Amino acid sequence: MTYSLVDVERWRYSIFRKLNCQDRENALSRALDTLETLLLASINKQISEFSRPAGRGFEAGEPLGGRGAVTTNALLEARGVRKRFGAVEALRGASFSINAGEVVALMGDNGAGKSTLIKTICGVHSPDEGEILFHGQSIAGRTPSEIHGMGIETVYQDLALAPDLDTAANLYLGREVLAKGVLGWFGVLNRKKMAGHAQQVLTDLNVNIKDPAAPVAMLSGGQQQSVAVARAVTWANELVIMDEPTAALGVPQTRAVLDLIRRVRDSGRSVVLISHSLPDVLAVSDRIEVLRLGTRVARLTTKDTTEEQIVGAMTGAFTSEEAE
Ligand SMILES: Nc1ncnc2c1ncn2[C@@H]1O[C@H](COP(=O)(O)OP(=O)(O)O)[C@@H](O)[C@H]1O
Ligand SMILES: [Mg+2]
Repeated sequence: MTYSLVDVERWRYSIFRKLNCQDRENALSRALDTLETLLLASINKQISEFSRPAGRGFEAGEPLGGRGAVTTNALLEARGVRKRFGAVEALRGASFSINAGEVVALMGDNGAGKSTLIKTICGVHSPDEGEILFHGQSIAGRTPSEIHGMGIETVYQDLALAPDLDTAANLYLGREVLAKGVLGWFGVLNRKKMAGHAQQVLTDLNVNIKDPAAPVAMLSGGQQQSVAVARAVTWANELVIMDEPTAALGVPQTRAVLDLIRRVRDSGRSVVLISHSLPDVLAVSDRIEVLRLGTRVARLTTKDTTEEQIVGAMTGAFTSEEAE
């Protein structure tokens, strides 16, 4: 028999009503917290194994690059990555690189392979061919949770939030803060601390969530997007990858996300920004790499590049780098 978090919430609510009890700190509530923590742990395990095909396994404790380090100055580099889905070859020898402290925009028409490339970097897909290097060492075929452990966080285009959980729980998914002392040993969560921090990050992002206790499924598309961005930025200590983060946002929230990207860079971290918005890309990126039909066709320095050159690279009218 499996229970979902919605079931737990329902029990909690009905028990409170029966006891006519307003106090969330009572023993019953704690017992339910423990149950919820156990459920969260099992859901997280499933998420981290999510859609990863059985690929090359890595033994725990094996040093990074144990299979031969390759020389590169980039923080992250993808070389000649191929990925096929049945008849569709989404990536045909795609390459990409980003240095420490850089914001690189990854651009390209719909279907160019941008999302597939970043999912391959993040361990959601295994590359059929090619190499992915982080600090010069191979990470191809690692699991998403191993990639998170290296300080890389991703805002996926399809968000990957837990719809039944509230904002704070989503921000802390898989990294729940336990209560101090004995309660913590029993898996009791420190909800106050998580909620306070969640509120702080969202205020920084200019996002006003009227009911922070509501499940994120009840929030608008833009608010959900902001929760996903906040989560990635909170946990990434090396690299944040954002797949179309401003697509669902209004003007003030877009501006807040762009500000946040600058702050992430100022803190020495790197950002890969996938976006169709030329104004956004020109406003925050240091460099632009363009994918077309599954290969990189251009590497541009933003300040030396015109909009015509970017559009030309995306449509195939202009190429500064032949398929490698
Ligand atoms: N899981 C999948 N199964 C089958 N085809 C896929 C899958 N993911 C992506 N594709 C295909 O791969 C190509 C590249 O898609 P995608 O990486 O999403 O492009 P982009 O993000 O640049 O719009 C598209 O033709 C798309 O239909
Ligand atoms: Mg995409």
